[in-house]
Amino acid sequence: MTTLKVGICGLGTVGSGTVNVIRRNAAIISGRAGVAIEIVHIGARRDNPNCDVSGIKVSRDIFDVVRDSNVDVVVELIGGTTVAKDLVIEAINNGKHVVTANKALIALHGNEILPLAAANGVTVAFEAAVAGGIPIIKAVREGVAANDIKWLAGIINGTGNFILSEMRDKGRAFADVLAEAQALGYAEADPTFDVEGIDACHKLVILASLAFGMPFRFNKAYTEGISKIDAQDVTYAEELGYRIKHLGIARKSKGGIELRVHPTLIPAKRLIANVNGVMNAVLLNGDAAGPTLYYGAGAGSEATASAVIADIVDIARGNSIPMMGFAEGEVSSQRILPIEEVETSYYLRISAEDKAGVLSEIASVLSRHGISIEALIQKEAPDDEKHVPIILLTNITQEAKLMAAVEAIESFEFVQRPVVRIRVESLAG
Ligand code: HSE
Repeated sequence: MTTLKVGICGLGTVGSGTVNVIRRNAAIISGRAGVAIEIVHIGARRDNPNCDVSGIKVSRDIFDVVRDSNVDVVVELIGGTTVAKDLVIEAINNGKHVVTANKALIALHGNEILPLAAANGVTVAFEAAVAGGIPIIKAVREGVAANDIKWLAGIINGTGNFILSEMRDKGRAFADVLAEAQALGYAEADPTFDVEGIDACHKLVILASLAFGMPFRFNKAYTEGISKIDAQDVTYAEELGYRIKHLGIARKSKGGIELRVHPTLIPAKRLIANVNGVMNAVLLNGDAAGPTLYYGAGAGSEATASAVIADIVDIARGNSIPMMGFAEGEVSSQRILPIEEVETSYYLRISAEDKAGVLSEIASVLSRHGISIEALIQKEAPDDEKHVPIILLTNITQEAKLMAAVEAIESFEFVQRPVVRIRVESLAG
C-alpha cells in the first residue's frame, strides 16, 4: 500500500482532533482511502496536551511544513486570513494539495485561491469550513447535482445556536452562555464573528456559491447578529407558534440571489426549528429532490476533524470533483439582491401608549404601505408602565416598504422607538 503524507499546520481544537482521529482510526481510514494516511510533519507554535504527536516531526515555524518535500497534502488549521493565505498560496505553488477548515479564507479569498490551485493541478478542499461534521459540501456539490437548487437555509453557527437555545430553554444570560461556548472551544478567536453573524455569513457565501455556480460574494451579503435579541421576543414568538433561529439564507429570486444572515422566526413545527445547542442544520430545497435536511455537530474538535479527514481521503482516492461544484468556465457572476429588495414577512414589536385609536393608526400606516396584518397580540400594560407591547406578523412584503412603514410608525408620539423588527420565513418546500 502506498502512503499519502500529510502535514498539519495548527494544533488547536481541530488540529489535535485531526491527529487523534487519524491515529485512532488509521486502519479504517486507509482501508477506505486505498492508501495509508500518515502525518509526517506538524507545524505549531506550541504543543497541545490533548494529543500525542510522538513519532511525528514537529516544527515551530508552520512554513517548514509547506516547504517540506516529504509532504503531499498541507492541512491548514491556523485560521485567520493573512498568514493562512500566504501559507496556502505557498503550499499550492509548491504543488501540494490543501485541506482547510478556514471559512473566512475561502469566503474572502477563494476567488483567488481556487483558480491558482486549478492552474497548479492541485486541490483545495474545504468540507470542514462549513457546518463542522456535516458533509454538506459533498451534499451540495455531489448529492444534489441533478437539482436546480431553489434555496437553502441553515443554522450554521454552533455558538450562536447554543446561545439562543440556552436563553430560550434555561433563561440563561447571553454573556454567560457565550463564555461557556468559548471554554468548550466552539467560539471563534473573536467571538463577535459568532454573535454578529460574520462566521455564519462566511459559511453561507461558500454554500451559495456551490449551490448556484457563482463566485464567492462575501461583500455583497447582508449580515445581522443575535446580540440584540430580547428574551421577550423569544417568548412572543413562541406564543405565535414560532422559534427564533439565526439563519443563513440563500435563495434564487426574481431579481437575483438573496444572500442574508439574520435572526429569523420560523414555524416551531419545522424540524430545523428544533435544532438546538451547538448542533447545525442545513435545509436545502431542490426542484427534483424537494427539501432535504442535513443535521450534525457544527463545531468541536473531532466533529470538524471528521470533515478534514474526509477531504484527505478524497485526495487519496484521486477524486476530481470540481472545487466549485460546476465545471471550469461554468461559474458565472450573478446579481446579489440588495436587502431592500428582499421580500419576506415580518414580526414587529411596537411599544405604544395604551390609549384609544393607537392600533387603528398603526394599521392604517401599514395598509398605506400595502402591508397587511396576519396575526396580532396586544398585552395589558404592567401597572407601572404606560406603554404596551403590540406584536404583529405581517404578510410578505418588500423590505424597503416595511422600513418606510416602520419609520412612519416610529414618528408617532405615542410610539416608543425603536420598533423591533425580525424577519419571518415559512421554509415551506
Ligand atoms: N465558531 C464556529 C461555530 C466554529 O460556533 O459554529 C465552527 O465553524
